Amino acid sequence: MSHFLVHSAATLLLQLVAQGQLDMEGALTARDRVGIQDFVLLDETTEAAFLSNLKKRFSKDLIYTYIGTLLVSVNPYKELDIYNKKQMDIYMGVNFFELPPHIYALADNAYHTMLTEFNNHFILISGESGAGKTEASKKILQYYAVSCPSTTLLNTVRDKMLMSNPVLEAFGNAKTLKNDNSSRFGKYMDIQFDGQGDAVGGHILNYLLEKSRVVHQNHGERNFHIFYQLVEGGSDDLLHQLGLERGCQHYNYLTQGQCAIVQSINDKNDWKTVKNALQIINFDETHLFEVIASVLHLGNVRFDSDSKGHALLNNNTELHWLLGVDAHRLQEGLTFRKIEAKKDQVLSPFTTDHAIYARDALAKAIYGQTFTWLVNRINESMENKDPSRKTVIGLLDIYGFEVFYVNSFEQFCINYCNEKLQQLFIELTLKSEQEEYEAEGIEWEPVQFFNNKIICDLIEEKHRGIISLLDEECLRPGDATDLTFLERLEEKMGNHPHFVTHKLADKMTRKTLERGDFRLLHYAGEVTYCVVGFLDKNNDLLYRNIKDVSLQLILCQIKMCFRLYCKYRRRPETVVTQFKSSLQKLTEILMAKEAWYIRCLKSNESKQSGQFDEALIRHQVKYLGLMEHLRVRRAGFAYRRKYDVFLKRYKPLCPATWPHWRGVAADGVEVLVQHLGYLPDEYKMGRTKIFIRHPRTLFATEDAYEKCKHELGECQLRNTKATGQRENTENRKKLVNIESCWRGTQARKEKEKRAWAVKVIKKFIKGYMTRGQAKNTDNSEYLAFVRQNYLNRLRDNLPKTVLDKTTWLTPPAVLTETSEMLRKLHYRLMVRKYVRGITPQKKFQMKLITSSIFKGKKDSYPQSVPSFICHLTSHLIGEEDINPRVIQMIRNERIKYCVPVIKYDRNGFKPRQRQLILTQTAVYVIEEAKIKQRVLYTSLKGISVSNLTDSTIVFHITREEPKQKGDLVVQCDHLFELLTKLCVIANKQNAIKVVQGSINFEIQAGKGGAVDFSTGPEPMVYKAKNGHLMVVTCQNPALLCHSRISLLMCQKTLNGS
Ligand SMILES: Nc1ncnc2c1ncn2[C@@H]1O[C@H](COP(=O)(O)OP(=O)(O)OP(=O)(O)O)[C@@H](O)[C@H]1O
Ligand SMILES: [Mg+2]
Repeated sequence: MSHFLVHSAATLLLQLVAQGQLDMEGALTARDRVGIQDFVLLDETTEAAFLSNLKKRFSKDLIYTYIGTLLVSVNPYKELDIYNKKQMDIYMGVNFFELPPHIYALADNAYHTMLTEFNNHFILISGESGAGKTEASKKILQYYAVSCPSTTLLNTVRDKMLMSNPVLEAFGNAKTLKNDNSSRFGKYMDIQFDGQGDAVGGHILNYLLEKSRVVHQNHGERNFHIFYQLVEGGSDDLLHQLGLERGCQHYNYLTQGQCAIVQSINDKNDWKTVKNALQIINFDETHLFEVIASVLHLGNVRFDSDSKGHALLNNNTELHWLLGVDAHRLQEGLTFRKIEAKKDQVLSPFTTDHAIYARDALAKAIYGQTFTWLVNRINESMENKDPSRKTVIGLLDIYGFEVFYVNSFEQFCINYCNEKLQQLFIELTLKSEQEEYEAEGIEWEPVQFFNNKIICDLIEEKHRGIISLLDEECLRPGDATDLTFLERLEEKMGNHPHFVTHKLADKMTRKTLERGDFRLLHYAGEVTYCVVGFLDKNNDLLYRNIKDVSLQLILCQIKMCFRLYCKYRRRPETVVTQFKSSLQKLTEILMAKEAWYIRCLKSNESKQSGQFDEALIRHQVKYLGLMEHLRVRRAGFAYRRKYDVFLKRYKPLCPATWPHWRGVAADGVEVLVQHLGYLPDEYKMGRTKIFIRHPRTLFATEDAYEKCKHELGECQLRNTKATGQRENTENRKKLVNIESCWRGTQARKEKEKRAWAVKVIKKFIKGYMTRGQAKNTDNSEYLAFVRQNYLNRLRDNLPKTVLDKTTWLTPPAVLTETSEMLRKLHYRLMVRKYVRGITPQKKFQMKLITSSIFKGKKDSYPQSVPSFICHLTSHLIGEEDINPRVIQMIRNERIKYCVPVIKYDRNGFKPRQRQLILTQTAVYVIEEAKIKQRVLYTSLKGISVSNLTDSTIVFHITREEPKQKGDLVVQCDHLFELLTKLCVIANKQNAIKVVQGSINFEIQAGKGGAVDFSTGPEPMVYKAKNGHLMVVTCQNPALLCHSRISLLMCQKTLNGS
């Protein structure tokens, strides 16, 4: 009993909760505990409220918060236990707002939207250096790797995708002052999915690697990780083979920043990971490390100067290790410049500075090309060659906005890139919001944004922007220097509100600027750039003879692989112009996709866990435009939900919608909100969603829902108490515990069931959509199901009699041919069974009846005998030929026999096409859907036929009432079968008379008529002058077979008469 009560109480609550989708809107129910999970629901949109909510959540390690579908992530600088398989399972296939905010929820929603809408998406991860972009992109990739369906084949593709990360990080990331694992290149990765949602391939686009880091690092920074990993983690054998010594201290290129060893980085372990990853991607890594070693050796090449100040190689032991390169040529390349004058080549000696420049330029070129080669190899290994259509989710993880004490050309490019992404974000968020209101038919007032287009234009505008001026200076003849470039900037940008230099600044600002600086007011803050090196870095030139050496070196070491990337043109585009066009292409790629956003915030500058630097975060919130985004989200309406989702949750709040609303969801929502007393300006009904203006309206509704849920639960508990089964609170607590356990279990089951159902339904929809195509992976299961289902249903619904020709199930398109074959087979089988079912005795009996009536009396009898039994079935009318209304009207009588006849009007003898149906009790004359006459066998007093070869039959009927119709005159091509059947069904053997001469009949009470018979050359039926029906029969038996012809002729004759 107690179990029953617990169960019933739980069931009620369960129903309640289940109707509301259990933990859907978890954000709302848990809001008091850990701040608000979606900023859109904040009561105030002030910065203070925003930060306070962020802080509250951060203090509880809740690093994720939504602004609508945008995810704000705060770097916790500590490992959180929220990225395990269990968490992934929880978020898999669940609606965005059903669970607390998580990067998995965003990844999952992008994935499922992609699958259902079959379109391309991208996730834009932005934030300043160290905010957590790369970590976020890795989490997403891991989520897809674990949660997407898998096969062994796909697993290898997936492994390669996952493994590309550590490899690219080793070669493209480095420790900076901002971040111990800072991305020094931009990365856009497309993950390709097939129609089933399997991750089947990937492709990476890389953007401008910060090559200068190879030869120079600021204090407190390191070179790219791979160098340290190699010299710290590489085996003795490998180091020996490469001519390297263990330890970073031996290499100039690794020690400039004076922080080769970093606590947070374990180069030895990372080396193992990279080696393993390279193996999975199928790399022959030896050559790769030879190149890396070459760079380290190059870095150790030193120069002395001779008496004229010309550079001399200090010693050439290092050159020995630049494998495969002619040491003499290299030495020449590093100490002389080759000048081509017409056909002659002149070597001009370098100063030591020039030689160092040449050496570093060579090292940068080698490393840069190696990196590009690496990305291309990874792409080859992840490539999916199957041409079938795929959808993609792109992950964009680019170096974040950065400001150092000294900022150079690299920071200029990185920050320009961030401006472009901010611009894209502004355009897309504005656009999508506007579109949603438009699509839903809701009026919308735009919110003011700071549009950073002005800064983008300042940098990239054709002929006037900084990039154009820089290129001009790089390419013009004459003595262009960094300073002439600065002067050009000052000339052109003089009054720009986002540009300032020492010369242009006011007194106060001038104090903060050096003479060689220019300052840009970026969207994310001021950055002062030092122009020194801008021209050089933008030109990225290698002296010609060094270029030859580089080519030779690389070709030797990585064999053929470099050929593609080493084509050198006379005048390549400048670095910044290449970068600008690659960003333009990237924007186009992204614009063609659906966007999802993750905005990463850096919690503090000292990379400490638990520190929430409010000023730093406020600054990021500001420049990332989060407040503006929030205002846009809330401008019209803070909250929006699909009608069915809203109704499902809140329907217990209105008697008209609880427990079920039977009509359209939108109407239900209207009824519900009216009942709740929503004021007209508090909400708007869109085409598919309800829009609620203020969060408080939703909160009030949510509170009412919570209360209602409890009341219903308590009411149930009170009932339980009243029965005397639960009297003390202790028991009540237990009851509640059991309830929640039970609810939890049920909800989990329900969730699993739903997830399963969603998968199956999706598969079916896809199968259904592609059902017309040849069998393929998309539709094979669906078609098999359709086939099996049709055959099963057919088996249970086969027509039972030969007469039944209507109940054959309509086949699906794939089975049309099969169905037709089966139908024919089945009918043939039934006919066969029927004929076989007529026992020899019965056949004999029927023949006996026919012969006893007609033998020797009717002239056409001998011709009918051979095909008699077959005719009994073959010429029958099937039920499909009988009008369904007639079948309906005589449904209580079993149809025994049915045959087409010509019926002659009693007065004018006009011929009419009719059907004659014999049931157990009567003969019916049918015209289309009407029963024209019903003659009970009991009132059938006689049947007359002539002795000639015609097929006229007169049914003599006893009339109970004078108004009743008179006798029936018909012509039937199957006279013998019809009458034999009639004898068997109605036992009318003795009523049949074969008459010589005329047959008299009654037209109506007291009025007689007659049919006269004669023979002639052609069969004819007509009304004779004496008013009788004249039937002329043919003596030629061949004509008897063509009954249809005879019927037609009869008709013709009569119509003509
Ligand atoms: N979700 C997270 N959980 C734990 N630690 C994190 C998380 N996100 C970031 N971190 C920590 O912050 C560091 C910096 O993060 P990440 O490298 O992702 O920054 P980034 O935005 O890519 O910076 P950059 O623009 O310099 O590449 C990581 O190495 C890691 O220690
Ligand atoms: Mg990064």
